[in-house]
Amino acid sequence: MVPDHTAAFAPGRVNLIGEHTDYNEGLALPFAIDAGVRVSALATGGQRISARALDLDATDEYQLGGEAPSPGDWRAFVRGITAELAAAGLPVRGAELEIEGTVERGSGLSSSAALEVALALALLALGDADVVPPWPLARICSRVENEWVGAQTGLLDQLASLCGRENAALRIDFRSGVITPVPLVLGDWRLVTLDSGVGHANAQSGYNDRRRECARACELLGISSLRDLDAAMLERLPAPLDARARHVLEENARVDAAVEALSRGDLPELGRLLDASHTSLRDLYELSTPEVEATVQRLRDAGAVGARIMGGGFGGHVLGLMAPGAVPPAGAREVTPGPGARVLER
Ligand code: GLA
Repeated sequence: MVPDHTAAFAPGRVNLIGEHTDYNEGLALPFAIDAGVRVSALATGGQRISARALDLDATDEYQLGGEAPSPGDWRAFVRGITAELAAAGLPVRGAELEIEGTVERGSGLSSSAALEVALALALLALGDADVVPPWPLARICSRVENEWVGAQTGLLDQLASLCGRENAALRIDFRSGVITPVPLVLGDWRLVTLDSGVGHANAQSGYNDRRRECARACELLGISSLRDLDAAMLERLPAPLDARARHVLEENARVDAAVEALSRGDLPELGRLLDASHTSLRDLYELSTPEVEATVQRLRDAGAVGARIMGGGFGGHVLGLMAPGAVPPAGAREVTPGPGARVLER
């Protein structure tokens, strides 16, 4: 029977390591967290969408097929999702939508992907659609970021939200499409995130510039993606493209080193890899800020064995690995791997 009421939840994510590698067909190691976005959808019979963002006390109304851009605003995500689902030939019905979130916006914990994925799942359930597999669904959601929000982001956040597993991180290979759960056994160690106080928005930060730089590096080298790069090619690139490319090359290697360290239970080594990732993102990829550096330092002062900027960069939350017994700084929140996005009611 076609449902007349559905609800879905999609989590935000933490990326353990493997930053700015997704759009370079590289490797990453994210996990879904408990916080996320819940969307409920009530079929209304017509072609009208009315949406309410409960946390913002804001509303939107439009006709399906008549979605207009709404730059820099939560409405862009709702309009983008209904338009992109329909463009992909998926059923979208007129509905009243209610949106509620527990992951801070602009935090670097992928509130945007959580919103896109929760909207998509609630609407697809309402349309009684067949299950759409993670990669194509992540691509639809990512088109919303690219075409409706203006951030040329990759698929990391959407895949982490869709495929999250309890007690595991996900090794994602963005070239082969293979996603492998990696048990995240921390014992008395803890992963925490700490807000740098600088909100970030990928559409307005230097994110799109970095993506362009990587594309330009590929053009100059005559390769289709930086996954085909080897160290000998770096000297053929002018600054700062050589530095950007070196980061991607070494960050991919750090992902597999982290998977190995986890398999041996070698958490001090994981900490060293997080630090190396941060140094590379700061010095080679140049996307740190003084506030982020101060936040990394606060975590280290509190006993973090590794700490790094996370996500798109230029602000947001910092990830820290706390040794047993270390007390995280005030305001830090512990993050643990939770299940992926799901339909709650249909
Ligand atoms: C943001 C983007 C992702 C990814 C990360 C950096 O979170 O949405 O696609 O590129 O930045 O690793």
